[in-house]
Amino acid sequence: MTPLPLLAFLLLLLLSLHPHAAAAAAGSPDPTPTPTPWPHQFHAALLMGHGDILVSLVNLWYDWPGGRILHEIRSPDTPSYDAEWNNGTSFFYTPALRACRSAQVGVGILRPDWLATGAAYLGRVPAEGYGGSDRHVWTKADFVTYYEDVATGHPVKWVFHTGHISHVISFDPGHVRKDVEWQAPAYCFTDEGGRTDKDALVAELDMYGDPDMRSDATFIPNIRLLRGG
Ligand SMILES: *[C@@H]1O[C@H](CO)[C@@H](O)[C@H](O)[C@H]1NC(C)=O
Repeated sequence: MTPLPLLAFLLLLLLSLHPHAAAAAAGSPDPTPTPTPWPHQFHAALLMGHGDILVSLVNLWYDWPGGRILHEIRSPDTPSYDAEWNNGTSFFYTPALRACRSAQVGVGILRPDWLATGAAYLGRVPAEGYGGSDRHVWTKADFVTYYEDVATGHPVKWVFHTGHISHVISFDPGHVRKDVEWQAPAYCFTDEGGRTDKDALVAELDMYGDPDMRSDATFIPNIRLLRGG
C-alpha cells in the first residue's frame, strides 16, 4: 500500500468506530420529535367533554402577542366567555344574564412553546375518527396528554388526566380576533353584574362540566406546572 490509501483506510476505520458516524452509516432511527410550538395567534373550535360525554362546543382564540386567550363556551345554548390575560386577570361572563366575575388567577396564559420543556414523548399512534395523519403523543407534568398531527403539526386533541378531553375540530393559524371583541363588558366593572371573588374560578370550571377540576387548589398549581416547564 502506498501511504495515501493507507491513511484513507485508517481514517475510514476511525470514522466507522465513531458512534455518530456508525449510526449515520447504519441509517439512524428518527430522533425523538419535538412538539410544534403553537402559532402565536390562532382560532380553534373544540368539542370538550368528559370521557365519552361531549359537554360543550368551545371557540378558542389564542393571542400571544396580545397576551390573552379567550374561550367562548356554547353550552347549553347561550354563550359564556372566559377571557384570560397575561397579567393574571380572568373574566368570566355571560352576556344573556349580564353576569360577570373576575379573578386574579395569579398566572398568565400558556406560552406557545409550553410543551417544549418537561414533556415526555409517548410515541406515534395512527389517526382515528375523522381522518388526518398519524399523531405524535406527549404527556406533561402528569397532567395532560397532547396529540399532534404528524403532517400539519396542529393539535388534534388533549386529554387532562382527570378525564376532561378537548377534541380540536378546526384549527386556523394566524386567525386574529378584533380588539373590541376581547373587551370584557362594562358590567364586569360595576356592582351591577361584576363580582371579584375566589369562587370565580370555581364557576368557570363548572362551565366545563368537570367536577374534578373545581378545586383551584389543584388546578392553579397544574397550570403553573404546564407553564413553568
Ligand atoms: C389585566 O388586563 C386587563 C385587560 O387590559 C384589565 O382589564 C385588567 O384590569 C388587568 N389586570 C390588572 C391586575 O392589571
